[in-house]
Amino acid sequence: MPNAAYRRIVVLTGAGISAESGIATFRDKEGLWAKHDINEVATPEGYARNPAKVHAFYNQRRMDVRGVEPNTAHMALAGLEQQLDRRGAEVLVVTQNVDPLHERAGTQRLIHMHGELLRVWCVACDARLTWDQELSTSTVCPACRASRRMRPDIVWFGEMPYHMERIEAALAAADLFVSIGTSGNVYPASGFVAEARRAGARTVELNLEPSEGASLFHERRHGPASRIVPQFVEELLAG
Ligand code: OAD
Repeated sequence: MPNAAYRRIVVLTGAGISAESGIATFRDKEGLWAKHDINEVATPEGYARNPAKVHAFYNQRRMDVRGVEPNTAHMALAGLEQQLDRRGAEVLVVTQNVDPLHERAGTQRLIHMHGELLRVWCVACDARLTWDQELSTSTVCPACRASRRMRPDIVWFGEMPYHMERIEAALAAADLFVSIGTSGNVYPASGFVAEARRAGARTVELNLEPSEGASLFHERRHGPASRIVPQFVEELLAG
């Protein structure tokens, strides 16, 4: 059982936390990777071969998050942060998700380790810009005016996830690690549970079903995030 003594909490989230808001997951039967080839739309090599195809994929993803609302799981995590703040404790949410639902729920201490759908990156001048429109091979960078150099600010397979040093430091100091709605298929996020355990943290999985690495966790709870996350947060705060 959780208790109120935890002071340094790291929460890792994946596509499952946003599923009930209407955003597709990746590896479920109806998931994105059942319909699209990862090598074509989520690797630097795929982008080099056919940038228009990659832009079309992420333009659709960007459309998919228009007007989408956070669900009770995102809201519970934002509430947890506020409550812990008052107690001088803290939570860091590390998300693999590229959707904006944690920030729409109000979470402040947030790392998007796989980038963000609503940002683009100009590889000519290195500007990262907020972006909610379509992107194409002919989009001109508003910062440097270069054309054909704007890409989604998404970490593709074979690229280094963002803010790894900050994440490693948080894991090394964590006393509680909670993994929510992720299949545990993608490195390095799949290795966080082992790092947190080595640091002495209690580890908890909250997922619809047991993930790939379920046995690595001290505690596992299975069910829809909209139900089990608010319940877990409530218990944590009640201590
Ligand atoms: P996956 O699609 O691999 O896994 C989603 C997990 O969420 C599965 O274990 C589901 O059982 C679970 N799930 C589904 N609905 C749920 C619900 N309502 N409540 C709780 N859990 C639910 O997605 P990720 O693990 O996030 O990377 O995938 C990791 C990375 O792989 C993504 O960030 C993406 C992808 O390729 C890139 O694109 C770089």
